[in-house]
Amino acid sequence: MTVFPIEKFKKLQTPFYYYDMDLLEKTLSLVNEESEKYDFNVHYAIKANANDRILEKIRQKGFGIDCVSGYEIKKALEIGFTPDGIVFAGVGKADWEIELGLKHDIACFNVESLPELEIINELAQNAGKKARVAFRINPNVNANTHHYITTGLDENKFGISMTDLEKVIDRMKELNHVEFEGMHFHIGSQITDLDNFKDLCLRINELQDWFISRHLFPRIINVGGGFGIDYEDPESHPVPDFSSYFKVFKDFLDLKSGQEVHFELGRSVVAQCGNLISRVLYVKEGVKTRFAIIDAGMTDLIRPALYQASHKVQNLTNPGGEKKKYDVVGPICESSDSFGKALDLPEMKRGDFVAIRSAGAYGEVMVSRYNLREEPKAYYSDTI
Ligand code: LLP
Repeated sequence: MTVFPIEKFKKLQTPFYYYDMDLLEKTLSLVNEESEKYDFNVHYAIKANANDRILEKIRQKGFGIDCVSGYEIKKALEIGFTPDGIVFAGVGKADWEIELGLKHDIACFNVESLPELEIINELAQNAGKKARVAFRINPNVNANTHHYITTGLDENKFGISMTDLEKVIDRMKELNHVEFEGMHFHIGSQITDLDNFKDLCLRINELQDWFISRHLFPRIINVGGGFGIDYEDPESHPVPDFSSYFKVFKDFLDLKSGQEVHFELGRSVVAQCGNLISRVLYVKEGVKTRFAIIDAGMTDLIRPALYQASHKVQNLTNPGGEKKKYDVVGPICESSDSFGKALDLPEMKRGDFVAIRSAGAYGEVMVSRYNLREEPKAYYSDTI
């Protein structure tokens, strides 16, 4: 259970991110323990949180890295991740980003279209190298998640569709500077129903037979990320059930000898260890609504405004107070700057500390400076 050192918070300027480093440690250890049972390889999706201290800890635990930009590759290298654990996805890789990956001999480019494959081949030729590539295939599997974060359907911009795949592999056979490594998938994010991953496995089994019948052996099967967390009750589920998650892939993927399974987990690794800490500025009795106006806003955590996501809001100062209904809103000049409507919370007063929970993934990394606000600082349970 995350403990909030309120006395120490009193000298700090709010809002800020507060990371429970013990919980991160525990989560990482469990990912390792459960994935090692089956020899699975885990790349941390750096897009979820690129804070140096968090990355350092993840590096120490031996994870690889999943990047979606040259900037992320640079950051990963700076922190000391080795290129042989770096995979690089993204529908719009710029030339300099591909060149950076080639220069460092990263493990794999996850290729999302035929024109991209041709450019990677050309740039690899210029560099006198051979690029290892996997095809990101759009498996047309539904992830039953918010439409902004579903990625595996035909209508999404991601990946190569089944109809184009034949053309892509025919062309690849003519290219001398790319080397086929395998298949890559990512069907969406915040997926809590494991049946969606089972469907993905069954689809992968069909697809690999298809490749093999065309004399291509997918040595690597990268199933992406997407495993969801409990936003409603982070205290009961501080660490996701990685045991059941990895077991689905063990049970349903039909692996051939010599194949490796890779994962790109972001949210499930870092979400629960992060909290956005804020102070109540004003309690405003509106006509029909009581507002708790806090000093954190959508610039500090954009998920509620962008995906209608809900994060548990907790009054840290007065946890036992009488429950009242509040709309908890931020100071930004946008109506979507809200952390929840009609929330039952212990009575709020000016100056109370509020924690917005499960904010470790896609929180700090998506901060913006709209309204010219300053970026929130980060503090850590082991050094505060
Ligand atoms: N691999 C690829 C190719 C991805 O696009 C993503 C996430 C991941 C792995 C990691 O997925 P995760 O394990 O974190 O679900 N900002 C949104 C989530 C966007 C996810 C983008 N891709 C949010 O706050 O919910």
